[in-house]
Formats: sequence, C-alpha cells, structure tokens
Amino acid sequence: MKLSYKPNLKGKVVVITGGAGVLCSMFAKAIAMCQAKVAVLDLNEDKAKEIAMDIVNMGYQAIGVKCNVLEKESIEEAHQVILKKYGKCDILINGAGGNNPKATTDDEFFNKEKFGQNGNKSFFDLDPVSFNFVFGLNFTGTLLPTQIFAQDMIEKEGSNIINISSMNAFKPLTKIPAYSAAKAAISNFTQWLAVYFAKSGIRVNAMAPGFFSTEQNKNLLWNSDGTPTPRTHKILNNTPMGRFGEAEELIGTLFWLIDNDASSFVTGVVVPIDGGFSAYSGV
Ligand SMILES: NC(=O)c1ccc[n+]([C@@H]2O[C@H](COP(=O)([O-])OP(=O)(O)OC[C@H]3O[C@@H](n4cnc5c(N)ncnc54)[C@H](O)[C@@H]3O)[C@@H](O)[C@H]2O)c1
Repeated sequence: MKLSYKPNLKGKVVVITGGAGVLCSMFAKAIAMCQAKVAVLDLNEDKAKEIAMDIVNMGYQAIGVKCNVLEKESIEEAHQVILKKYGKCDILINGAGGNNPKATTDDEFFNKEKFGQNGNKSFFDLDPVSFNFVFGLNFTGTLLPTQIFAQDMIEKEGSNIINISSMNAFKPLTKIPAYSAAKAAISNFTQWLAVYFAKSGIRVNAMAPGFFSTEQNKNLLWNSDGTPTPRTHKILNNTPMGRFGEAEELIGTLFWLIDNDASSFVTGVVVPIDGGFSAYSGV
C-alpha cells in the first residue's frame, strides 16, 4: 500500500473494531505502517488473526483479538488482552457495522400491486428483530466499545475516537431504514461524545464514506452475473465524480483526524468522503 504521507503514531495503541472487514483491515495496515501498535478486533477471530499476521509479516506490530461489539463481556476480555500486550488504548476506531437483507425492503416506494404478495417484503413486513439487529450492530456496537476503551484515554495526550457514519446519515437511502437510522444516530452520537469528552482530552470525529463497492453492499450493487444493478447506475449518476471511491481514498481523511499534530482543534465533525454525492441536488 502506498501512503501519501505518514503521521507519527510511534508507540500509539490503536484499537480497530470490525478490523477484519474490507475497509478496516486496510485502515489497520495503513496505521501499522505509521509505527502504531494495532489491535484488530473482530467477531471473525480467524480473519482478525490473519490480518494481524499479514501486518506482522510486513514488519509492523499487530494482534488479532476475538471481540463481539454487542457484548460488553467480550469487549472487556479483548480489552484485557490488549492491556497486557500493548497497554492503554490511545485511538479507537469503531468500524464494526453493516446492513442485513432482512432489514431491507424489496421496493424503493410502497407498491400497492405487490403488497401482500408472497415473497414481497414491504415496510410492513420488516420484522422488529431484524430491524433492531441492524440498528444495534451499528449503534450499540459503537456505544459499548467506546464505554470500555475511552476509559483508557481520559487525559491521555492525543487520544481520539473515530466513528464510521455514512451518506445515509445526511439523507436516508431507499430500502435500508434500519441502517440509515443507525448511521444518523452515529453522526449525532459523535457530536454528543465530542462535547462530553472535550474537557477530558479525547477528540471524537466521524468519517462518512460515500459509495465504495465492498463485501457488505455487493448484493445491492452487482447482479450475480457481475453486471451493475439499477442502484449502481443511480449512485454513479448522483456522484458528481461519476465513479465509486477506491477504499484507499479514505486514508488521507483518517490520518488527518487521528493525527493530533494535524487536527488537535477538530472534534465533533463528520467528514464526507464521497466524490461530491452529499453536495449534489441531482439537478
Ligand atoms: N463499504 C461502504 O461502502 C461503506 C460506506 C459507508 C459506511 N461504511 C461503514 O464502514 C464500516 C466498515 O464497512 P466494510 O464495508 O468494511 O464492511 P465489512 O462487512 O467488510 O466489515 C465489517 C466487519 O465487522 C465485523 N463484525 C460484524 N459484526 C460484528 C460484531 N458483532 N462484533 C465485531 N465485529 C463484527 C465483520 O466480521 C466484518 O469483518 C461499517 O461500519 C460500514 O457500515 C461502509
């Protein structure tokens, strides 16, 4: 991976939840290349350990730790492992999150003809368990790790938290009401935390990625034969730059926000990295 610049993170302990995922495994590698000690936390323990091993093989420091961000006990266990190996957390990246087809409507608009037909999932058919699962994964999955790791950061020079919001936080996207609501909550919570910790030395900011084609959203963006779905056409027509982002294009913003030398007076912001999507009215 080629980095345009490297903040000095020597000795910093950086905890990344969802660290085995597409975006956060890349963050883990980039941050490790800046001499930080990286803890890759994920529900998928094998994958977390595999990412950590990749980083170690590159000559940098990382450990992979099993962690379910929805269970306080599991996060506390991961915390103990990190304390023993690296010490207190300096930077927390709350990356675990995602959507689920069970919390997704089939249609963009209420469709009277299809309503009630077998197999059609309208707003009225969304079951609360699935809705709450997606909401919880994205919101509670940020709340609980913050409650545990922010205790390490109080009055620790340069400590900060990065949450991952989304375009959905500015304006909800069709079909995915639970994910949209959760990401709006993440933006709001980022501001709340920023104020709450402002006198304790912890900065709290969020990144709002636009459209990146990853494992999480591949079924919405690509047909099984690899051709683009109508949703992909819509996204690209509404992204002034006319393309999906490359995951590596998130790293500059990430580095700016976590680097206390670059952003020591920045807290409570949600930065869109979106090729202009959130700025465009469509006209
Ligand atoms: N990909 C995009 O276009 C995009 C856009 C906006 C926001 N985001 C957000 O960025 C973050 C990362 O997205 P991604 O595309 O890399 O997703 P991804 O699905 O590749 O990675 C998510 C990771 O979270 C892990 N995870 C799931 N449930 C967990 C739990 N309970 N505890 C711990 N780990 C758990 C998964 O195992 C996976 O490794 C998410 O918060 C996502 O909502 C992604």
